[in-house]
Amino acid sequence: MNVLILGSGGREHAFAWKISQSSLIHDIFIAPGNAGTEAFGTNLSIDPSDFKAIKKAVIEYGIKMVIVGPEDPLVKGIVEFFEKDKALTGVAVIGPNSIAAQLEGSKDFAKKFMAKHGIPTAKYGSFTHETLKEGQAYLDTLKAPYVLKASGLAAGKGVLIIEDLAQAKKELKAMLSDKKFGEASSTVVIEEFLKGIECSIFIMTDGNNYKVLPEAKDYKRIGEGDLGLNTGGMGAVSPVPFCTPEFIDKIEAQIIIPTMKGLKADGIDYRGFIFFGIIKVGNEPYVIEYNCRMGDPETEVVIPRIKSDLLHLFEGIATQTLGECDIHIDQRYCTTTMLVSKGYPESSEKGKEISNLEDIHDCIVFHAGTKKSGTKVVTNGGRVLTATAYGSSLHEAIGKSNEAADTISFSGKYFRKDIGNDLKKLIKEK
Ligand code: AMP
Ligand code: GLY
Repeated sequence: MNVLILGSGGREHAFAWKISQSSLIHDIFIAPGNAGTEAFGTNLSIDPSDFKAIKKAVIEYGIKMVIVGPEDPLVKGIVEFFEKDKALTGVAVIGPNSIAAQLEGSKDFAKKFMAKHGIPTAKYGSFTHETLKEGQAYLDTLKAPYVLKASGLAAGKGVLIIEDLAQAKKELKAMLSDKKFGEASSTVVIEEFLKGIECSIFIMTDGNNYKVLPEAKDYKRIGEGDLGLNTGGMGAVSPVPFCTPEFIDKIEAQIIIPTMKGLKADGIDYRGFIFFGIIKVGNEPYVIEYNCRMGDPETEVVIPRIKSDLLHLFEGIATQTLGECDIHIDQRYCTTTMLVSKGYPESSEKGKEISNLEDIHDCIVFHAGTKKSGTKVVTNGGRVLTATAYGSSLHEAIGKSNEAADTISFSGKYFRKDIGNDLKKLIKEK
């Protein structure tokens, strides 16, 4: 089978790497891809949200499956675009339709869904420009810190956590009335702050059955010790020691199953990945957010732990036979350390030559913001590369990914040296 992977990050490189090992694969195409994905297939210079250009490529290259990495094409309706077009009959799209993708595309929708189906999440209120005064009054009823979320997609920037009440009221006005995040903040969700430790839980589903994938912990802040600005993710670890079998069972019973039942009850046909951003408060799991795709960099530790043929599982999604597929998981630890460009996340240098990649032997290097420039590989974004390593202990895996991050070289390189350290402490405490 020929497949097309949409996206250009480490997540898409990890998909390409894994799918290249499938017994079902013929050719892989990646749009637009990066310097790393080229090793597994053909990069096509197409924007993942340019559906007409995608259609043309699908027909030209005899593609039978499109795997959607990022949320944008899903929220914009790529699934419906393929379903409606007779010329694309028989081409599977791995990802939910635009209605199902509202679980990520609209925080207001997601919160209403959770409230309706009894899924544990932070208490909330939803407000627009017309109800700004009510929103400010709602803030008065909460305790600091205050959590304000642009309801729509805001490229990961739409969540503000503010200590001061007056400042929170000012920001609410900026979001609703001055469109601080454009249309994305025309509705704002205000939430009660939950204090706990976070993890990322993933399932793949064909709408009827689901498989729980390995969990991961993502490190979102730019600085060591979880300080500084939020980023797309600076590293990840799987498995997560505090996600004991008992805690995963709780998540399944209280969150995954009610979500699946809720989708069915609401007539929402969900096929693809669901990413549950979970926070553990005491011993109880709460949903912080849903995403309609895999996480990045979580994918770079979750996919390497799946031993089964990923394309076979994707076929199970497409033909609604996922229940007949087995999924085998590698029991080893897997960690990844993201290397970023100078200035990230506020800005990022580009075009810096990357060297020493050939010296990495005990790690899988997934590319994110890279491109080829002649025979050289150069930086092409904020998150540049991520070094994934296996280990029979967390310590061993972290050691290897740190060493690789140290070895790879480009001007302005930065990475966090403390990925997984908090978890190492947890294991010691046991
Ligand atoms: P989101 O985009 O909804 O995942 O929010 C981004 C980050 O903000 C999360 O990963 C959490 O660290 C934090 N966050 C969001 N909502 C809450 C909440 N209700 N309580 C505490 N932290 C939150
Ligand atoms: N790493 C978090 C995300 O992909 O949204």
